[in-house]
Amino acid sequence: MADKRNLNIIVLAAGLGTRMKSRTPKVLHKICEKPILWWVLRTLSSLRMSKTVVVLGHRIEEVRDEILNWKEEIGASFFSRNVFKIARQKKQLGSGSALKSASALIPKKGYSIVISGDVPLIKTDTLRKLLNEHKRTFSSATVLSASVESPFGYGRIVRSINGEFIKIVEEKDASPDERKIIEVNSGIYCFSNDVLWNALKEIKPLNKKNEYYLTDVVGIFKKNGERVSAVSFAGPDEILGINDRYDLSKVEKILRLKINGALAKNGVTFIDPENAYIGPDVKIGNDTAIYPNVFIKGSTIIGSDCVIGSGCYISNSRIGENVKIRCSYIYESKIESGVKIGPFAHLRPGTVVKRNARIGNFTEIKKSYIGEETKVSHLAYIGDAHLEKNINIGAGAITCNFDGKMKRETFIGKDSFVGSNVNLIAPVKIGRKVLIGAGSTITKDVADGMLAVERGRQVNKARRK
Ligand code: UD1
Ligand code: CA
Repeated sequence: MADKRNLNIIVLAAGLGTRMKSRTPKVLHKICEKPILWWVLRTLSSLRMSKTVVVLGHRIEEVRDEILNWKEEIGASFFSRNVFKIARQKKQLGSGSALKSASALIPKKGYSIVISGDVPLIKTDTLRKLLNEHKRTFSSATVLSASVESPFGYGRIVRSINGEFIKIVEEKDASPDERKIIEVNSGIYCFSNDVLWNALKEIKPLNKKNEYYLTDVVGIFKKNGERVSAVSFAGPDEILGINDRYDLSKVEKILRLKINGALAKNGVTFIDPENAYIGPDVKIGNDTAIYPNVFIKGSTIIGSDCVIGSGCYISNSRIGENVKIRCSYIYESKIESGVKIGPFAHLRPGTVVKRNARIGNFTEIKKSYIGEETKVSHLAYIGDAHLEKNINIGAGAITCNFDGKMKRETFIGKDSFVGSNVNLIAPVKIGRKVLIGAGSTITKDVADGMLAVERGRQVNKARRK
């Protein structure tokens, strides 16, 4: 492995990202929940380097603030002072000018890996190989290339008849013949610092885009008789650069299959891995089955032997073992083992559902504790409530937890039975083994073992002719 002290990494992420047609800076657009640049920095963080410089420009404050939020996930040591630096590119005049903006922060000796902030699938191993190859061949520049099916938009690697690298030509400046070349520039390079900075001074914006192209540096090296090579260590997916939303969706799909593939290898069943949307931090136990069109996000952890049926959306929740969920929304909730939920239930933040409880269709639970074996099976609303174990809540029963100003609490003791269509006007406390007659509006506490009924008497009268 490389000597830790002489490898620098420069990430170019100052561009306008015009092709995204977005108010959000390009590198902050998300793929599988995490920003494009997050994926790049996370990969880089496992290389041994002396310094990482991220070049920012367009919306620099926004991007910098976001990056600094990633310390915990990517690792504080990567972001330590003297190791992690941000350089500002004042005017977005092209990738060559972006690299120049980093020059003051990089030593005049050693090596630099230069990478665009928009290639999130690149692997650490490929970068290591690039660096080793660069050193082995004593090159001034080593370009990482790949042969792709549709090279449109990429710079092409132009080689001589005997395969020797000549130059990189951009799509817009390429001749019809050059456009047919399928070996493309990944936008990832290894440079020897001692010759890099002088060559950068020589590049001129003499091209269709009037930009300072970083890719011209290798041509200048070549002209000056320096050793330059292009190596294709990377697979075609790995080097996908994101320039527009279509690229974004393509990369999202590849990453999604990677995440689902890793889960499947660990014993999770997918009916259709292309249509299950699972975040990179989610953990799922073996023998759990994921049906199509399921979203599982954030820090969710799901145990073994569960069934997550079609149409579920689960975020930042903890699900025990052998839980069956059908077509339901669950946010920031804790569900214990053996619970059945849905179809069409909505569990809102702060909900705890204990073992073997049942939350049925068209039921909303908000910030409530549902005790063991308790059943809230149909059309109910339970908010700010504590339900002990083995309670039955009838169809259409609701807690009236909002008095117009404040949220109020409801308590129901174990083994109680709440009839259908009951209104529990909070704050209210229902004791244990209580029976509440259907249709009652309960405003007063009910002691243990009592029957409570609040209902107008039914009158049956003969109908008028
Ligand atoms: C670039 C390469 C192309 C390569 C492709 C790979 C150049 C001239 N071309 O094209 O050969 O095939 O990447 O994905 O480099 N940037 C700045 N400041 C600027 C302009 C750009 O920081 O003024 C940054 C961007 O944020 C981006 C990177 O440089 O991360 C590359 O710029 P981009 O416009 O995406 O270049 P491509 O057209 O993709
Ligand atoms: Ca790009």
